[in-house]
Amino acid sequence: MKTNSGLQKPATIMVIFGGTGDLTHRKLMPALYNLVYDKLLPENFAVVSIGRRDKTDDQYRNDVYEALKKYSRNKIDETQWNKLKNIIFYMKFDFTDMSGYEQLKKTLEDLSSKLSNGCGGSCNRIYYLAVAPEHFETIVQGIQLSGLASNHDSWARLVIEKPFGKDLKTAMALNKKLLEVFPEKNIYRIDHYLGKEMIQNIMVLRFCNSVFESLWSNKFIDNIQISICEKAGVGTRGEYYESSGAMRDMVQNHIIQILSLVAMEPPVSLDTDAIRTEKLKVIQAIEDFTPDILRDNVVFGQYGRGIIDGETVPAYREEKKVSPNSTTETFVALKLHVNNFRWAGTPFYIRTGKRMAIASSEIVIQFKPLPDILYFKDRLHLQEPNLLVIKIQPNVGVFFQFNTRNFNSHKDIVSTKMDASQINRDAGNTPEAYERLIYDILRGDSTLFSRWDEVEASWKFADRIIEYGGKMNFNFPNYDAGTTGPVKAFELLARDGRKWLNI
Ligand code: BG6
Repeated sequence: MKTNSGLQKPATIMVIFGGTGDLTHRKLMPALYNLVYDKLLPENFAVVSIGRRDKTDDQYRNDVYEALKKYSRNKIDETQWNKLKNIIFYMKFDFTDMSGYEQLKKTLEDLSSKLSNGCGGSCNRIYYLAVAPEHFETIVQGIQLSGLASNHDSWARLVIEKPFGKDLKTAMALNKKLLEVFPEKNIYRIDHYLGKEMIQNIMVLRFCNSVFESLWSNKFIDNIQISICEKAGVGTRGEYYESSGAMRDMVQNHIIQILSLVAMEPPVSLDTDAIRTEKLKVIQAIEDFTPDILRDNVVFGQYGRGIIDGETVPAYREEKKVSPNSTTETFVALKLHVNNFRWAGTPFYIRTGKRMAIASSEIVIQFKPLPDILYFKDRLHLQEPNLLVIKIQPNVGVFFQFNTRNFNSHKDIVSTKMDASQINRDAGNTPEAYERLIYDILRGDSTLFSRWDEVEASWKFADRIIEYGGKMNFNFPNYDAGTTGPVKAFELLARDGRKWLNI
């Protein structure tokens, strides 16, 4: 393929470290398949999957095929599958062995030459680290030592999954290492929530609708609730979760990212940095958690045995690779304030937990009540609040609640619920998020990825709460699986005369 200048367009190769792992099979390959399906991959593109096991290309392709049958949102169409199949290659390679990177370099050069019909070995590269975090630095070092990061006339991008460090200190050390090898603009820190449809929609809802944006402040909004509740437990990830907990697993990244999009000022443009700068300011404006605020506004929980969908499920402490005395939190509820002119005085309540009664992620914006002078004076009717709910999953869309007269009784005021949401085809960790994110990596658009200073500010916030949690004796387990979480999470809002709203 020739570009306008008549030069051969460089090939693009995506190298996946962790090619036989769960993430690759469940998310990355289905995403690539669906990008092929939607004709969104570049023409001379290939994937090199790296794993430690012995496999031929064909054996590996068969594994991918089986995974696609289970996890792809589009059914397998043999023509589309063949297109993907022929550009997937497997390489057995222990990424802790530095000599393997020379071999990888040679493989990429040969493949690149083949993809561009023998015209040069230089290619655009995406290094996707779909491995456990303890391997991040080793791999980046291997890439550095073998000169795999520097390309003269093409680009090299690094994609890194969470967790990005386990606290501010380790995150800074990791970031320093990455920056020795890749410039910030080529580092794509994945937060898959940012690839979800309704998370991308937050800015559109706010900045394309005068009816919302003109009311979007402490003057009109009573409180904002961000909830990510899961029915699933930790499953086979006990070992990882023990050193993570809900604060590191969900709050430091997904929830803080959502909060920053909900609370940010309008950016000066839609440029990546303009948006990220406004998001950063929100995280930096979160009120400091003093000892008093920590004591009053933080609730940690851990699930005990319980019933989900009619079946008894084990307590967290009974899960595989979890200590029987574990003090890891599987639930967090927080009240926080964003102390700037727009939000001072309007509380944000956030909540996330595993093994909850329902799986639901949503953002509830509760508007302030009107004076009870006309319609609600007699107290016969309760004034239901205006609510705007951004439904992330399993339903995707928007819900709005407002008051009208009841046509039947001619006198009652009733709340009308306008639900413009629909059930998502893939309730749960949607592969669509990865499709969008991989597509953006290919295009070089890092808007939906976290910039280092956002990660840094999130860790500063999360570290204080994690440190506090570590010192407390929470008397776990304090909620049964299949329930709505610890009682204290309800008391947190009841104290303010509010309640969690599940719409
Ligand atoms: C991941 C967490 O980042 O997000 C998991 O590590 C969690 O513990 C998952 O289950 C939730 O993602 P989703 O897309 O299913 O809501």
